Amino acid sequence: MTSEWQRLQSKLPEWVEQNRHEYIHGKVAAYIPELSKAPADALGVVVMNGAGETVVAGDTELQFTMQSISKVFTLILALMDNGEDVVFSKVGMEPTGDRFNSMLKLELVEPGIPFNPLINAGAIAVSSLIRGNSPEERFARVLQFFRLLTCNDTLEYDQDVYDSESATGHLNRSLAYFLMEKGILRGRVEDVLEVYFRHCAVKLNCTDLARMGLVLAYNGRDPVTGVPLIPRRFVQIAKTFMTTCGMYDASGEFAIQVGLPAKSGVSGGIMTMVPGRYGIGLVGPSLNRMGNSTAGVHLLETMSRDLDWSLF
Ligand code: DON
Repeated sequence: MTSEWQRLQSKLPEWVEQNRHEYIHGKVAAYIPELSKAPADALGVVVMNGAGETVVAGDTELQFTMQSISKVFTLILALMDNGEDVVFSKVGMEPTGDRFNSMLKLELVEPGIPFNPLINAGAIAVSSLIRGNSPEERFARVLQFFRLLTCNDTLEYDQDVYDSESATGHLNRSLAYFLMEKGILRGRVEDVLEVYFRHCAVKLNCTDLARMGLVLAYNGRDPVTGVPLIPRRFVQIAKTFMTTCGMYDASGEFAIQVGLPAKSGVSGGIMTMVPGRYGIGLVGPSLNRMGNSTAGVHLLETMSRDLDWSLF
């Protein structure tokens, strides 16, 4: 009988090629102009097990920015800095059913706090909770945390993507001013956005992302080094948000088709995991109507069905 790992080794390259063409049904994000340079037909995936061994297939050398995937880890850092009560006095725990950058419900639904930490308004509020005396210090702590989780000391943010988003992020600016007016943001709007835009622009590859997923898969302990990095309770909170809102308004469909906690970003990255077994990092820059990697979601469906990974 072949083991699951052997099946992954033999089938993953074939599954990547089988799903790659799905990119034609999507588009590379262009609202942050710098992101539009990504290769639309790229597709790469890394699966990492508890020993740090990997199965890789496709364009895994591609570097991309974390974008919204970073929100999972800034949430965790904010929880570690402030505890649950403070964090959940500023953001809620529910999916919105609106686009990730919408301000609709902020005004319509009392008490006017962002519905959850994975939409832009919520993530901006969370960024303002990261401890530090200046935006530089707060971002340095975020980057340090990401480096610890990836075991990659060379991780940096991409200056061009940061500049591009900072120059065009008018909607995020308006969300931040709204939050400031409501007393939800700590500090100055531009300082908070500097931290937010920078953590969205942290550049990595599929292996880095798989390692971050692996830490979540093992409830906060890096299984390769044995070092505890995140309290289990905060991993539980993060994985719950990933399941309920990690794939934007397609989170329900993703739960049915794939059945794993996951978080996507507009650069086409997806981080997911098989609890207790694997961390998975994937990239496919062409996005479907809901803002998730078109080919990436199809590839994860193929993998999850074949290997019976759904948690439900
Ligand atoms: O704020 C933005 O629009 C981007 N930096 C991140 C958006 C993203 O990946 C989608 N978010 N849920």
